[in-house]
Amino acid sequence: MWLTRMQFAAGAAAASLLGAFAASSRAAVSSTPQTKENAMPFTLPPLPYPDNALEPYISANTLSFHHGKHHKAYVDNLNKLVDGTPMANASLEEIIQQSAKDPGKSGIFNNAAQVWNHTFYWNSMKKGGGGAPTGDIAKRIDADLGGYDKFKEDFKQAGTTQFGSGWAWLVLDGGKLKILKTGNADLPMVHGQKALLTMDVWEHAYYLDYQNRRPDYEGAFIDHLINWEFAEKNLAA
Ligand SMILES: [Fe+2]
Repeated sequence: MWLTRMQFAAGAAAASLLGAFAASSRAAVSSTPQTKENAMPFTLPPLPYPDNALEPYISANTLSFHHGKHHKAYVDNLNKLVDGTPMANASLEEIIQQSAKDPGKSGIFNNAAQVWNHTFYWNSMKKGGGGAPTGDIAKRIDADLGGYDKFKEDFKQAGTTQFGSGWAWLVLDGGKLKILKTGNADLPMVHGQKALLTMDVWEHAYYLDYQNRRPDYEGAFIDHLINWEFAEKNLAA
């Protein structure tokens, strides 16, 4: 379930992985007074771990700014942009798919996609993650991507060669695993691909900890942070 902003502000940060990633859900606010604050349709989901859980690879300072300022701004902007429009009652995924096809709705698309991307990104990481996976995802990486070492090389290269802001992804495309990169807010679902894992390579994801050394952040993400259980769950879904 999604938490309202008031619950989030009270410190409810330890939601379950699945619960935290209910990107299409709306806040359950019907039983509470309809104030301006809680009447907003989309709310910022909590991080699925404390903001210092990923140290020393991603600092609490980076996570608190990234989540509390950047991700929150996308949520707030989206609420303002869809308020009073036919999209006001649509799911997040419906808004993304509809706005992706309409160049006149690029502002809605960018903010909606960034809300989805960031929730997916938080769940793509965990404390004590990274390294070689096991299970079906490992077999698929061997079969489709040439093995884990090749995955590491290619995933890092996707992030490093994304010019400017964007994302590196592990996706399922036509029944096969693929590694790809997208610019700005672009995301696999609008290209008919299923996202399994993502790495944010916008500067705001790493600059406080790594300055301009994006490859060092990417290496830490791959070796120490990837939540392979999340990727496995997405593969099976
Ligand atoms: Fe970001």
